[in-house]
Amino acid sequence: MTLQINAQQNGSLEINPLCEALGAEVIGLDLSKPLTGEVGQAVHDAFLEHHLLCFRSAPLSPAAFADVARRFGEPQMQLLRNQRVDTVPEVSLLDSTYVRAVDKPDDMRQVRLTGWHTDESFVEAPAKATLLQSLEIPDSGGQTSFCNTRAAYENLSEAEKLRLGGLFAAHRYDTPRAAVQPKVRTKEEIDETPEVIHPLVRTHEDTGQKALFFNANRTDRVVDVSHEESEDILNLVDGRMTEARYRYDHEWRVGDLLIWDNRCLVHSVNMDFPVGQRRLHQRILLQGHRPV
Ligand SMILES: [Fe+2]
Repeated sequence: MTLQINAQQNGSLEINPLCEALGAEVIGLDLSKPLTGEVGQAVHDAFLEHHLLCFRSAPLSPAAFADVARRFGEPQMQLLRNQRVDTVPEVSLLDSTYVRAVDKPDDMRQVRLTGWHTDESFVEAPAKATLLQSLEIPDSGGQTSFCNTRAAYENLSEAEKLRLGGLFAAHRYDTPRAAVQPKVRTKEEIDETPEVIHPLVRTHEDTGQKALFFNANRTDRVVDVSHEESEDILNLVDGRMTEARYRYDHEWRVGDLLIWDNRCLVHSVNMDFPVGQRRLHQRILLQGHRPV
């Protein structure tokens, strides 16, 4: 259902769901102004309800992008230093362009960004949310897809909820379960990324809702069970949370600014787009709490 609010300062605000599974488009919000009053509350409520918000914008400077991010939380530095913007280091530039034909594999599963993941789950307190803005996009392909792990959890059978409820899993920067190995880290980055243990079902600190918490690129194993049982459980979780009914595919326009909730969504990139066409985004991670 579309929500409409008339606010003197902000003109008319509209919040329109993007699809059944998740996400809403916010129309009529001036991103350069603080999120206060009735409008601010409506935007924050929509974020918690829909888990992803899309603002149509022109590309912002890194500093202006960081200002928008601060309205939703506290930006944190991402791990990989070489993607950080020098002048505003909490902003990272993510360039997924295929420069040469040889860079693009025939099998898209061989590109790490296609794995369903929640950002930086390999740290003790993973980012609660991510802001991503497109700066340049290819003519075709390159969509970012999302799945709602809160809805996937809620639709499990009671027996499955009981089975998964008390389990914990190890998240690592690198795991043999991932289809592709990650980029090389510096010594400093390796020292900052020991294995961490997270619950397989986490409770959202703002809503109390439970969601599956699994990262196909980082979740190594369920702890305190056999390897076979761990694989069985992780495959079950992976399969359930990525069912089509929980999914939204975002077709980027230049300047689109998305904010999504890493506590109840996973995402994946369609890396099938033309060689030589630039695909560039800027990203900010917002500080989160240790999952419980
Ligand atoms: Fe990501």
